Amino acid sequence: MCGIIGYVGKKQAGSILIDALKRLEYRGYDSAGLALLDRGKIFPLKRVGKVCELERAQRHFRHSGTIGIGHTRWATHGNVSEKNAHPHLSNGSHFAIVHNGIIENYLQIKTFLSEKNYTFYSDTDTEILANLIDYHHHKATHLPFAEIVRKSLLHVEGTYGIAVLGKPFPDEIVVARKSSPLLIGLGDGENIIASDAAAIARYTKRVVYLNDGEIASVRPDHFSVMTADESSVDTVCHELDWEIADVNCDGYPHFMLKEIFEQPTAIENAMRGRFTRDGSSTKFGGLSLTPEALRSIDRLFFCACGTAYHACLVGKYLIEKYARIPVDVEYASEFRYRNVPLQRNTLVFVVSQSGETIDTLAALYEAKRKGYPVMGITNVVGSSIARATDAGIYQHAGFEIGVASTKAFTSQLTIFSMLALLLARRRDMDQFDGQQYVFALKSLPKVVGEVLKLSERIRSIAERYCKRERFLFLGRQAMYPIALEGALKLKEIAYVHAEAFPTAEMKHGPIALVSEETVCIFIATQRELLDKTMSSLQEVRARGGKVVVVAGDGEVEWEVFGDEVIRVPEVHGGINPIISVIPLQFFAYYVGILRGCDVDRPRNLAKSVTVE
Ligand code: AGP
Repeated sequence: MCGIIGYVGKKQAGSILIDALKRLEYRGYDSAGLALLDRGKIFPLKRVGKVCELERAQRHFRHSGTIGIGHTRWATHGNVSEKNAHPHLSNGSHFAIVHNGIIENYLQIKTFLSEKNYTFYSDTDTEILANLIDYHHHKATHLPFAEIVRKSLLHVEGTYGIAVLGKPFPDEIVVARKSSPLLIGLGDGENIIASDAAAIARYTKRVVYLNDGEIASVRPDHFSVMTADESSVDTVCHELDWEIADVNCDGYPHFMLKEIFEQPTAIENAMRGRFTRDGSSTKFGGLSLTPEALRSIDRLFFCACGTAYHACLVGKYLIEKYARIPVDVEYASEFRYRNVPLQRNTLVFVVSQSGETIDTLAALYEAKRKGYPVMGITNVVGSSIARATDAGIYQHAGFEIGVASTKAFTSQLTIFSMLALLLARRRDMDQFDGQQYVFALKSLPKVVGEVLKLSERIRSIAERYCKRERFLFLGRQAMYPIALEGALKLKEIAYVHAEAFPTAEMKHGPIALVSEETVCIFIATQRELLDKTMSSLQEVRARGGKVVVVAGDGEVEWEVFGDEVIRVPEVHGGINPIISVIPLQFFAYYVGILRGCDVDRPRNLAKSVTVE
């Protein structure tokens, strides 16, 4: 989604802004822009489309400067156009602003400013902020820059991460945050601000994260932070401890394919150092829960969005099966506005690859407001969710760039599987079963490596079915969320209508969709209920539907009834969902490619969803 960058120092800001914007591209956007302060005046440059369009335009831009702000926009208010792209300038070009988030009362503020003769040239909520800042500046020209911005924000309802450039303040950028991430990267005689550490990690590893309600003044040699109620803030400088390699595909045609193939490593990293010495259980240093606390949990509650929500559903099946603890799973976007009754002794987890999903963050705050300690599972160290949770588990899956989550999903499944084992061993699972489970987990990277060899076989299946417009994904029990994930991947990447159901639900309605045009993908890798799945498969065949089966390499003769059979190794139930989803990731990827889709940056989507 939208990305923010800002630079103040001695170097030419333009090229730094463009470079950093390129590193934000993976988040998803539809236009890009920058503004430079050049000899006392602000000059904007914007382009619809990719950052390379902006870069091309910048080569002929007559303006330069050592201070500037930049933005990648994902449209919310107003269509995709240059006029709506950021930065937005105030009337008279005294101020320029880039903004992530949504100003909810922008119409009210617009009416107020229109009465003061301000004119608006875009359809965005952001432009009103530029003019509101200008209004407050003209009311009290002696005020410091940060104070003007602070006063302006007092009138604003909604969410924002902003960076503001001011003509009267030639060596200062003001930034502010409310529910939209922002950080200040500290350099030597220069500072750089961004909405995402990925954008600036090549310039500095020393960063200060802004908290909600904070406003910062950033100059080349100095920065200061205050809160909305004017208290000064003692900041903490963090070292980025993750290496952000230069963003490239390492010889793969797409990040998505590269990340699918990175799964053995991502899974290995999720497990590293997390097995107990006796080889029968797991441990998570970050959870900071005593054995007694773990034993006293009566219920678990998981909250997430999209693919992370599917991981939670798998977690529910595994924990209920192995640890016999009831688990509830909610979409974070629903939970935040529902008054969900939570029982005592409920352990709450929020799960998010990016750690920045606004709905998940809001759900986290809601659970904390109710007095529950909240644990997090996230991939991004230092992300908003990582910092707001009481404790948690890092995935260590490595940077995920493809908008469609793949390796982060299987890494979350690995963590849930390990959590199921940890809780099971605190209850009824004996040491022998624990050892078998650990053995299965340790074999995962190798088994996943085997499944990756199916790539070409799945490509050929995708070639046969890529023109179809209707896909049903069917699975039972823990394979139902895997079916949901398979359908989501196909929708996201190939723009094909795909739905998922628990297999036995077919005859309660969805079977009406089955015709010769329909492709039904059965995920039948678990040992239980195979004969029931076979019956459902026959019902689809009897109605002319095409059948693809993802099956274990056991004895069932799926080939007799399925049009295509993808065989994966038969494995322990605790890791089976991980093995089963990989063929579906490949399938979505190849169908997307064959249909000519931009699989790394699917239309209308963003890597981290930071607006509601
Ligand atoms: C995954 O393929 C999707 N792009 C999307 O559903 C994603 O999982 C969701 O937006 C949640 O993101 P998060 O894990 O970063 O919170």
